[in-house]
Amino acid sequence: MVQLEDEIRQLKEDRNAVVVAHNYQRDEVQAVADKVGDSLALARFCAETDAAVIVFCGVHFMAESASLLSPEKTVLLPVADAGCPMADMVGVDELKAWRRDHPGIPVVCYINSSAAVKAESDIICTSSNAVAVVRSLPDPEILFIPDRNLGQYVADQVPEKTVHLWPGFCPTHDRIRAVHVEEARAAHPDAVLLVHPECRPEVCRLADFVGSTKQILDHARTSPASTFLIGTEEGVLWTLRRDNPGKRFFLAGPGFFCPNMKKTTLESVRDALVHMRHVIQPPPDTADRARAALARMLAVR
Ligand code: 13P
Ligand code: SF4
Repeated sequence: MVQLEDEIRQLKEDRNAVVVAHNYQRDEVQAVADKVGDSLALARFCAETDAAVIVFCGVHFMAESASLLSPEKTVLLPVADAGCPMADMVGVDELKAWRRDHPGIPVVCYINSSAAVKAESDIICTSSNAVAVVRSLPDPEILFIPDRNLGQYVADQVPEKTVHLWPGFCPTHDRIRAVHVEEARAAHPDAVLLVHPECRPEVCRLADFVGSTKQILDHARTSPASTFLIGTEEGVLWTLRRDNPGKRFFLAGPGFFCPNMKKTTLESVRDALVHMRHVIQPPPDTADRARAALARMLAVR
């Protein structure tokens, strides 16, 4: 392992590369990354880095967004088929048809989507800024794609607007039910419950705090509580435990595991740098429009 880490360090120098990792990556992959974060933090980091090469340890839509924001850089996804099932739950033709049925209503598209779908949307959001993005629009009605759970969370926070929901979901978060959380609470009655808004509405409504992976990490760091139930993918436990040695963390339900996020290994990161693979480049016919929708999001503070 030490040898692999050294190889990656050397290759990063040789290639003028940075490694970025999502909070759900394997512990050892997070440990070699120059930046670990949520979707928004990684998108901003990739847009600002001077490196020539970005090795994106995450899933396809994340690397694609990095490439959209940094067209002059080479973006590598270590495992070509690391995808996000939720992103595949909306296609361009279906979205166009939905828009036709709702003329004049803007589309807010979660970043967990393809570049082609982003290109057909008005503005992108992530889980950390979805509420702010929807509030930033003057329109009283919004079409929200593809996550119905995040969309419902936004609708609850912004009751003055009507949010139409697309029926997509994250299989990892959606499988957790209120009954699982209630069982976890019974086992740890003093724990504070922090959940990701990709969880079902009935789970979010039980939570003490709802936020993106970074917001969950920040909340746990500053909270005076000592025990936490975590309602998101288990990869966040690595940072939570490293940053909070005196606190205890338990998952709020079974199966908080994203198989696609776990496909990336140190070997695949090393091989990505050795062979300069797999280069992610959004289709040129949609890149400009998708980039514009992403840029609109980055302008919302
Ligand atoms: P975050 O933006 O909160 O990191 O979420 C990304 C994701 O895919 C959650 O499942
Ligand atoms: Fe997609 Fe869910 Fe995995 Fe996030 S956790 S990448 S939304 S499948």
